[in-house]
Amino acid sequence: MTSTEPTVYEQVGGEPFFISLTAAFYRGVESDPVMRALYPEGDLAPAELRLRLFLEQYWGGPTTYHEMRGHPKLRLRHFPFPIDAEMRNRWLTHMGAALSEQHLPQELEDTLWRYFTMAAISMENVTEGDPMERAFSQTVSDEEKQ
Ligand code: HEM
Repeated sequence: MTSTEPTVYEQVGGEPFFISLTAAFYRGVESDPVMRALYPEGDLAPAELRLRLFLEQYWGGPTTYHEMRGHPKLRLRHFPFPIDAEMRNRWLTHMGAALSEQHLPQELEDTLWRYFTMAAISMENVTEGDPMERAFSQTVSDEEKQ
């Protein structure tokens, strides 16, 4: 990328976009008792700010997140919260709704959505057992049915 190419941060309209996106996302979280229960703080505003500053930094905006929180280490920071496939989908549902509310040009929306999908999958830290074990017990129960 050359230095004259606008960053995604600039293309989406800078800080106002991220303020609006994370506000919409946290309205979704607030309305979802299963996700809401994960948040240790009564007030969601500090979590909203951390997510916003992280996303602004990630997409080429100011590095305030780094100054406040240091290296993101996001996977590590999510370990205290059990995130299974269902929780990941809840997160993605709220983020997808928040994103489409922003009415970005399709290509930009797709860029952000691809990132969120990958990032959310990588945050999963509870899997339904060991994949090999799952495959094996499936085979055994299939045999038992015969
Ligand atoms: C997959 C489902 C996810 C769940 C259930 C989840 C849940 C949480 C919770 C409960 C917190 C603690 C609130 C706080 O103190 O800030 C948190 C923090 C955070 N999450 Fe997630 N999260 C998920 C995915 C993601 C993804 C995909 C991203 C980035 C794209 C992300 C970015 C962050 C950030 C930046 C913080 C604050 C980290 C810090 O500086 O302490 N999360 N998340």
